Amino acid sequence: MGMNLRGRNFLKLLDFSSEEIRYLLDLSKQFKNLKKTGVPHAYLTGKNMVLLFEKTSTRTRCAFEVAGRDLGMGVTYLDPGSSQMGKKESIPDTARVLGRMFDGIEYRGFSQEIVQTLADYAGVPVWNGLTDQFHPTQMLADLLTMEEKFGNLKGLNFTYMGDARNNTGNSLMVACAKMGINFTACSPKELFPENNLVQIAREIAGKNNSVITLTENVEQGVRGADVVATDIWVSMGEPDQIWESRIRLLKPYQVNREVMSCAGEDALFMHCLPSFHDTNTVIGAEIGKKFGISEMEVTNEVFESRNSVVFDEAENRLHTIKAVIYATLC
Ligand code: CP
Ligand code: NVA
Repeated sequence: MGMNLRGRNFLKLLDFSSEEIRYLLDLSKQFKNLKKTGVPHAYLTGKNMVLLFEKTSTRTRCAFEVAGRDLGMGVTYLDPGSSQMGKKESIPDTARVLGRMFDGIEYRGFSQEIVQTLADYAGVPVWNGLTDQFHPTQMLADLLTMEEKFGNLKGLNFTYMGDARNNTGNSLMVACAKMGINFTACSPKELFPENNLVQIAREIAGKNNSVITLTENVEQGVRGADVVATDIWVSMGEPDQIWESRIRLLKPYQVNREVMSCAGEDALFMHCLPSFHDTNTVIGAEIGKKFGISEMEVTNEVFESRNSVVFDEAENRLHTIKAVIYATLC
């Protein structure tokens, strides 16, 4: 396909051109097809990667592990309690050690500076599996899912409701701008994405004939949306005390039946997961008891509706992460 990403880090979508993202999506489709048809694709046999997780994960960890194994790689997982990183060894030292042993490093954790420092020192590709600011591998899965459902990306209308300045909100704004999708952040002003990122996204969107809109008005925000997306109201790393104020701020931005009807009967519902759509989780039950709500960012009805593509997104984490590993190591 005439695109060479060998040796590149995958830290945020801002570092990639629209053409490079297109290439990764097309490669993901090829890997998905190989997987579905049972064709072996151990193209990276003999290579090894390490997965550093300072925050918990189901999808990202499993997608990296299965992708690595499908590609024939050795995979080592390090959780927060089982490495020296941060406590006894600095990030640059950790990066230089791991870079001598592994062909690639995945990091999930806190600030974007950490993943950037790992990349600066490792000498091998570093992949961002989520930081406080960005979640770029999730974006490829979301874009692939939309393209599969609509057949195209350009010109779609995407509305993100809720905490629009978290890692998912920031990343979706950039992903949409890069691919010519109109992006609306529908949230209280306090939770709009940061101004400088909005300016950057608007410049990118302008070149791709799409627009970035910020609104506090739910009806304006969702009318005509092809996709309505949301994320949890309190992200990993934020203090528990914040729940009360977040619930107060974000309750009007819950994705429910009224919101989806305003968007239109064929609008899709998207969510990176995990989601608090019922009280069948420890935190869901605690919040339910404390604040008297049984559903948070999305109602169970919408989550379970025919419009919901959340498990397609989750599956696509595997195929898109595989594409990123392959493209940067092959
Ligand atoms: N969407 C996502 O990143 O899920 P995990 O936290 O389970 O990895
Ligand atoms: N915003 C969420 C995303 C989880 C995949 C968090 O950071 O917890």
